[in-house]
Amino acid sequence: MRRKIVAGNWKMNGQQDQNQALLAALVKEESALSAVDVWVAPPSVYIPTVLSQLKGSAIKVLAQNVAEHDKGAYTGEVSAMMLVDVGCFGVLIGHSERRQYYAESNAVVLAKVKQALSKNLLTVLCVGETLAEREAGLTEEVVLTQLSAIVDACDEAELARMVVAYEPVWAIGTGLTATPEQAQIVHAHIRAKLAAVGAENVAVLYGGSVKAANAEALFAMPDIDGALVGGASLDAQEFLAIARAASDATVGK
Ligand code: PGA
Repeated sequence: MRRKIVAGNWKMNGQQDQNQALLAALVKEESALSAVDVWVAPPSVYIPTVLSQLKGSAIKVLAQNVAEHDKGAYTGEVSAMMLVDVGCFGVLIGHSERRQYYAESNAVVLAKVKQALSKNLLTVLCVGETLAEREAGLTEEVVLTQLSAIVDACDEAELARMVVAYEPVWAIGTGLTATPEQAQIVHAHIRAKLAAVGAENVAVLYGGSVKAANAEALFAMPDIDGALVGGASLDAQEFLAIARAASDATVGK
C-alpha cells in the first residue's frame, strides 16, 4: 500500500502565536503517526518560523504558491529557488482558489510546476471541477484536462516529485464532501491517467471538507492516498484525528 499523506493547507489564516500553539500540539503527538507523512502549508511569510519550530520533527513544510518565473522584476512574487533556499520541501500548485481568484490557467499552472520541479520541490498539483461542471456531467473531462495539461508535459523524473490532489471545488470550505464513492470514481480516473504516463506511484490525495468524521471512510477507498485538509487543519485535534485515521488505514487497524 502507498504511504498515506495528510497535508494541512492553512490558506490565509494564522498568526505567530496561533501557529506556534498548533505546531506544538502536532509535534507532541507525531511519534504515534510515523506511518503517515504529515505536511503543513503555512502562509509564505511564516515559513522560516514554522521551519525552525519544526526542527527535529518529521513534519514537512510546503508553500501554498510559487512564482511562474525564475527570478527578476515580479513584485510580490516568491520564487521556487527562494522556497528551497529557506528549506521548504514542496509547494501546492493549481489550487482552485488560485485558479478562480487569480485567474491561473493550465498554462500558468504548468509554468509554476516546471519552476518547482526544476528546483526539486515536491509539487502538489490540485485539480477539481465546479458544481456546474459536475451537474453538467463534465467532472471526468474537466479533471483529466487539468491533469493532462501538466502530466503530459512532464518526464518521468519530474512526475516522481509530484502528488495530485483531487479537490472538487463545490466541496472546498462548504461543508459538502464528496462521498467516498464519488471521490473514488474520480481518483480511479486520475490513477488511470497517471498509469498511462508511467506514474502509477504518484499519490492522489482527496481535498474538500475533510474532517475527522469523514476521514476514515475516505481513506478506506483504494485510490485515496491521503488528504489535503483546509479548515480542519487549523484545529490541532481535528487535524491529528485525520492523521490518525490515515495511520490506522495504513497499518490496517
Ligand atoms: P477545506 O479546504 O478542507 O476547508 O474544504 C480544502 C482545500 O482547499 O485544500
